[in-house]
Parts: sequence; C-alpha cells; structure tokens
Amino acid sequence: MEKQQVVVWDLGVRIFHWSLVVLFIFSYLSGDEFEELHAYSGYIIISLLVFRLVWGFVGSQHARFADFVRGPRTVIDDLKSIKDGHPRRYLGHNPAGGAMIVMLLVGLSLLTFSGLMAYAAEGHGPLAGTDVSLISTAHADDDHDEGDEKEEDEFWEEIHEFMGNFMLLLIFLHIAGVVVSSRLQGENLVKAMMSGKKEVG
Ligand code: HEM
Ligand code: HEM
Repeated sequence: MEKQQVVVWDLGVRIFHWSLVVLFIFSYLSGDEFEELHAYSGYIIISLLVFRLVWGFVGSQHARFADFVRGPRTVIDDLKSIKDGHPRRYLGHNPAGGAMIVMLLVGLSLLTFSGLMAYAAEGHGPLAGTDVSLISTAHADDDHDEGDEKEEDEFWEEIHEFMGNFMLLLIFLHIAGVVVSSRLQGENLVKAMMSGKKEVG
C-alpha cells in the first residue's frame, strides 16, 4: 500500500517546542550574567507553558493530554517493550514519552517559579514585594536580623540553580528517548516535530 503523510503535530505544538528549545538554551546561558534579559526570556517561557497547558485541552487530537498521559502500568509496559526492542508504534507520543513530557512541563514550571522567587528576593519582577520567606523561614536561623534577606535570596537561587541542572538531566533523557525510539521505529521523530507529519500505511 502507498505510504501516506498525515499531520500529527499541529502548528501550536511545533512553535511551542522549538521556541522552548531556543529560549531554554538562551535562559540557561544568560542566568549568571545577563539577569534582565534572562528574566525576559523566562517570562516568555512562562507564557509558552501557559499556552501549552491550555493547548493540552483545546489543541488538535495528538496535542491533548488525554491522548498521551497514561498511568504508571502502561508507561512501564511501554518501557519494557522498548527494552525488548519491539515497541508498539503510536502516531502521537508513546506512553513513556508522555510521562517524560509531564516531567518536563512540571520541571519547567518549578524552575521558572523558583526563578521568579529568586528575582523577587532581589526586589525585581512581578512578585517583588511579596513574602518570599514562606518556605525559607523553615530553614533560616531563628534570629531575624538583616542576614535573613540575603539568606532568602540565596535560598531561592539555590533551588533555581538545582532545578536548572535537574532540567538538563531530564532533557538529556528526553533527547536519548527520542533517538532510541526513532531508531527502533525506523522513523525520524525530530523531522516529524519540525514538519508535523508522519507516514501511515
Ligand atoms: C535539540 C534538542 C531537542 C530535540 C531534538 C527534541 C525533540 C523532540 C521530539 C522529536 C519530540 C516529540 C517526541 C515524540 O515523537 O513523541 C519532542 C517533544 C517534546 N520536547 Fe523536545 N527536543 C529537544 C529539546 C527539548 C528541550 C530543551 C525541551 C525543554 C526545555 C523539550 C521539551 C519537549 C516537550 C515539552 C515535548 C512535548 C511536545 C508537546 O507535545 O508539546 N525538548 N522533542
Ligand atoms: C527555563 C527557564 C530558566 C532557566 C533555564 C534558568 C536558568 C538559570 C541559571 C542556569 C542560572 C544561574 C545559576 C547560578 O548562579 O549558577 C539562573 C539564575 C537566575 N535566574 Fe534563572 N532560569 C530560568 C528562568 C528564570 C525566570 C523566569 C526568572 C525570573 C524572572 C529567573 C531569575 C533568575 C535569577 C534572579 C537568577 C540569579 C542571578 C544571580 O544573581 O546570579 N530565571 N537561572
């Protein structure tokens, strides 16, 4: 039978993905020195995340969370089938890929939130003026002197830095998953995320 091309990833998913990749790299590299640009890039990432959350309910078939978020059993079975070298083919994200996407989106939310809090602790950004000590008092010293502010500042910065590096690990696993799945299924998933199309038939 003739192979046919069908659109799997709508324009929303593709623009979301590749803008996220560019902005993540920019944010990662600018974190230490170019704080204002870093924050702006982070704000755009937050907007992308909000967009993706909404798109997960109103986007096209394979963009919807209901299409690819599966329970742990299904994810484990999927991982086993990949390990055995005979994965089931899914037109959208496979269950293991879906679990990774949830982790990436949650990780990015925590990363950007801790960034906003670290920025607020320095007196900048939309959360400036709010009580950033909510969690950090639990670990701050009992004496509430001028050292506290510095400590809160560093507390969120440390969480932010940790989450940044944790995201690197997730992204490494994400890309490894894409490469392995592409090999086993004999299809170029990166190309599909660019053109939006996969072959059927
Ligand atoms: C150059 C590096 C990257 C490549 C080649 C790549 C490739 C891909 C591919 C092929 C998919 C679709 C997987 C599938 O077919 O099921 C995907 C999905 C995804 N990737 Fe990446 N990725 C890269 C970097 C990143 C980075 C840096 C992030 C996060 C900061 C990320 C987050 C995501 C997310 C959230 C999805 C789900 C897309 C959606 O449905 O909205 N990727 N990626
Ligand atoms: C995905 C998005 C983001 C990534 C990948 C990222 C990554 C980083 C990295 C790698 C650092 C350097 C940590 C270090 O000191 O070693 C950093 C610092 C920082 N980031 Fe982010 N960040 C993101 C989003 C944000 C957002 C949304 C904000 C707030 C608007 C923010 C505010 C800050 C602040 C205030 C610092 C500390 C700068 C300093 O005083 O050294 N970040 N970030």
